[in-house]
Amino acid sequence: MSSKVALFNRITHYIVNRKGKQMRPMFVFLVAKMINNGEISERTYRGASVIELIHTATLVHDDVVDDSNRRRGFFSINALWKNKIAVLVGDYLLSKGMLLCIDNNDFDLLKIISVAVREMSEGELLQIDKARKLDITEAIYYDIIRQKTATLIAACCSLGAASVKPNSEEVETMRKFGELIGLAFQIKDDLFDYGDEKIGKPTGIDIKEQKMTLPLIYVLNQCSKKDHDWIINSIKNHNKDRKRVKEVIKFVKDNNGLDYAVEKMKYFQQEALQLLKSYPESDYKNSLELMVNYVIDRKK
Ligand code: IPE
Ligand code: IPE
Ligand code: MG
Ligand code: MG
Repeated sequence: MSSKVALFNRITHYIVNRKGKQMRPMFVFLVAKMINNGEISERTYRGASVIELIHTATLVHDDVVDDSNRRRGFFSINALWKNKIAVLVGDYLLSKGMLLCIDNNDFDLLKIISVAVREMSEGELLQIDKARKLDITEAIYYDIIRQKTATLIAACCSLGAASVKPNSEEVETMRKFGELIGLAFQIKDDLFDYGDEKIGKPTGIDIKEQKMTLPLIYVLNQCSKKDHDWIINSIKNHNKDRKRVKEVIKFVKDNNGLDYAVEKMKYFQQEALQLLKSYPESDYKNSLELMVNYVIDRKK
């Protein structure tokens, strides 16, 4: 990761010392091992590294987009060095990831990753568009989370397969598997925002950012017109009023918004587990099942 520019080195040092869960590379390795009797290659290692680099780049940018000052239990890059620098650092990490593929002629893996990066940018932008207009539906919510989060986890699993068995049927099956995990994963992330557990990043900021997620969308679809107008007005005109935001959160909880989201999350979890059923028993398959369940049960 070293650069000739001292400031870059200071910042990459800061990032490398604050690792996240590193769940995505785990999916790359386990999928590769499951479909190839435990045998993985240098391509698998490079693919796993690139994915974590790209993931980190998108988090650095996401905290600029969401104006968030905490990440992984510490200050975010934008909080410490301001937006200008965070934008450039994100680009640097992204290009480092792409170059790792290019320098090793892993063009098939680069293609999988580039598609995911395109989808993520689109998903984040679609989310902003919907936050401005406040006209999100449940179907659009799934489109957003599929693009901004699920495609990268789908890329992990298809890349894991492609790293050991290029052009096999498994590449597509594993892409679907990863997509289902990703949908459950983002619903869980959105549920965290309604809680007050310590998860290493801010909670209760989605409504402040006018971001409507599944619990809220569900409640809006169920409640009376009067309550609906009160919620929309709160998000449109009082989103920085902490007391008002707390009232909206309470309303969502009292009207089973969280329960509904949990139900949907579990549905995607079960669909993902179902896809694993056709594979023969192995330690890798068991570990993948544990990972799928971890996505739902995790505490951060
Ligand atoms: C956070 O992902 C971004 C989302 C897609 C919700 P993780 O929760 O995997 O982040 P780290 O890498 O463990 O910090
Ligand atoms: C996930 O979006 C980040 C990306 C997919 C780029 P969020 O904004 O919902 O995630 P957190 O909560 O900041 O990690
Ligand atoms: Mg964010
Ligand atoms: Mg975001």
